[in-house]
Amino acid sequence: MGTVTVRKIDDDVIRDLRISAARRGVSMEQEARDRLRSPQTQDHGSEPVESAGNKPPWRLKASMEELLALGRKLPHGEFDQKDESDRLYDYLEQHDGHSMTMSDKQILLIICGGIAAYKSLDLIRRLRERGASVRCVMTKAAQEFVTPLSVGALTAGHVFTDLFDRQDEHDVGHIRLSREADLIVVAPATADLMAKLAGGHANDLASAVLMATDKKVLMAPAMNPSMWSHPATRRNRAQLEKDGILFVGPNTGEMAESGEAGTGRMAEPLEIAAAVELLLDTRPKPLAGRRIIVTSGPTHEPIDPVRYIANRSSGKQGHAIAAALARLGADVRLVSGPVAIPDPAGVRTIHVERAEEMRDAVEQLMPADAAIFVAAVADWRAEGAADQKIKKVAGDGPPVLRMVENPDILATVGHHRKRPWLVVGFAAETQDVLKNAEAKLAKKGADFIVANDVSGSVMGGDRNRVTIVSKSGVQEWPEMGKDEVAARLAGLIAERLKTTAV
Ligand code: CTP
Repeated sequence: MGTVTVRKIDDDVIRDLRISAARRGVSMEQEARDRLRSPQTQDHGSEPVESAGNKPPWRLKASMEELLALGRKLPHGEFDQKDESDRLYDYLEQHDGHSMTMSDKQILLIICGGIAAYKSLDLIRRLRERGASVRCVMTKAAQEFVTPLSVGALTAGHVFTDLFDRQDEHDVGHIRLSREADLIVVAPATADLMAKLAGGHANDLASAVLMATDKKVLMAPAMNPSMWSHPATRRNRAQLEKDGILFVGPNTGEMAESGEAGTGRMAEPLEIAAAVELLLDTRPKPLAGRRIIVTSGPTHEPIDPVRYIANRSSGKQGHAIAAALARLGADVRLVSGPVAIPDPAGVRTIHVERAEEMRDAVEQLMPADAAIFVAAVADWRAEGAADQKIKKVAGDGPPVLRMVENPDILATVGHHRKRPWLVVGFAAETQDVLKNAEAKLAKKGADFIVANDVSGSVMGGDRNRVTIVSKSGVQEWPEMGKDEVAARLAGLIAERLKTTAV
C-alpha cells in the first residue's frame, strides 16, 4: 500500500474536513482517508478542490443532504443576491464551524497517569483552536509522564495538581474548579481513576473535582487491554455509565507497550474533540428527549470455543446511524455485535456476541421511542455449542452441525407489548429486493424497511444504495456514502417522531 503525505492544505479544506470529521465522530485524518478511498471523491478527483473560494461539489452535495436531513430551516431572504449553492454553503459555514460550538466554553481537562498522557497535549491544542479555554488538573501519576510546565504552556494558565495547595484552594478551590467548567474531560482516564469515581472516593484533586461537579463528564479511557477487559474495570465502567458519565473510546489497535495489541488505546485527540463538540453543542435538536435503540454489526454464533458462524457485516451502517441520531440529540443505545470499528461518540454502546444476547440487551433497553434494527443477525446457531474445541479425529469425518433458529429480534420487538412508537428494519437482499422487503415489513411488524441489495460490496464497504419501503409507498434513494444514508435516515426518523409527544 502506498502512502501520500500532504504538506499544505488550504484552510477551506481543513475547515471542511474538521466539520465533517466532527459530525461523524472520527479524526480528521480518518475523514481524509475515507474521502480518498471513496469512489465519489475519486469521481471528482480532477476538480480543483484545493483552490481557495472554489467550492468542491462533493462537499456541497453532502452539506445539502445533511442540512435537509438535520431538518434545519434556511432563513428566507437572507442571501437574496446569492445562488442557492452559495447560500447553503455560507449557511453551513456560519452555523457549523467548530468555533461556533466551542467559543466561550471552558473545559476542565483532567490528565491521569498513563503513557497516553502525551496525547493530552495535542488535545489541549485541538480544544483551544476550536475556541475553548482549557484548564488542567494533573494527577500525581500524570506528572510522571508529562510536566505541568508543558501543560501550562499549552493551556496558557495555571495547572492544578494538589488538593491541599493552600494558594490554589484560596484562589479557586476545587468546588469552583469543578463548577466553572462547561464540561469536564478526563483524558487519559486510568483504571484507577475509574475505580475511584465508581467507588465515590475523593482523596486527591482529580477525584474531588469529579465528585463535586454538577457538569457532564466525558472520559477517554486508556489502559492495557487486559486491564480494560478485567471484570473490575467492566464493573466500574457500567457503574459510571449508570451515574451518567460519558465515554469516548477506547480504541482497538497497537498499544504503546511493544508487542501489546487490543482494546485500550485512548481515542485520538480529534475524536475526543469531536465528542466534546457534540456535547457542547446546545442548539435545539429535533430528537432531544428521545430514546432510540439501534442494533448493528454481525452476531457470532459459537460452534466451540474457537470457531463461530458469522457474516460479512462491518457495523459501519448501523454505527453511522447511531451517531447520526445522537447528533440530532437522541439518547442512543447501540447494541453492537463484534465489529472492528470504534464505538460512536456520544452513544452508549452495549457489546454482545450472540443473537440471544442481542435480543436480551434490546429487551432490557425498552421502553424506547424508536428502535432501528441494522444488525445482520445470524438466523441460525449451532445447537449445543461444544465446551471444548472439536478435534479432528482420523477416520471420523467432518462433524455434523445441527442448526437451530435464532430469535428474530426485529419481529419480537415489532410485536412486543412495549413496542416502541417507531420500529425500523433493514432488509439485506441479493434478489427480489422490493418483494422481500415488503414481505418483511408485514411479517416483522415494522413501520418501514430500509432495503438494500447486498450482492455487491455493500457489506464492509463505505457506500450504500437503499430503498425505503413502507405501507404508504416506496422511496428510492440514490447511491451515497453510508454516513449520508445515516444522516438522511436520522432526518426521516426525526420527522416521523415529530408528531408524537416527547
Ligand atoms: N433481524 C433480527 N433478528 C434476526 C434476523 C433479522 O432482528 N434473527 C432483523 C435485521 O436486523 C433486519 C431485518 O430483521 O432489520 C431483516 O434482516 P435480514 O437478514 O434481511 O432478513 P431475515 O429476517 O434474516 O430473513 P432472510 O435471511 O431470509 O432474508
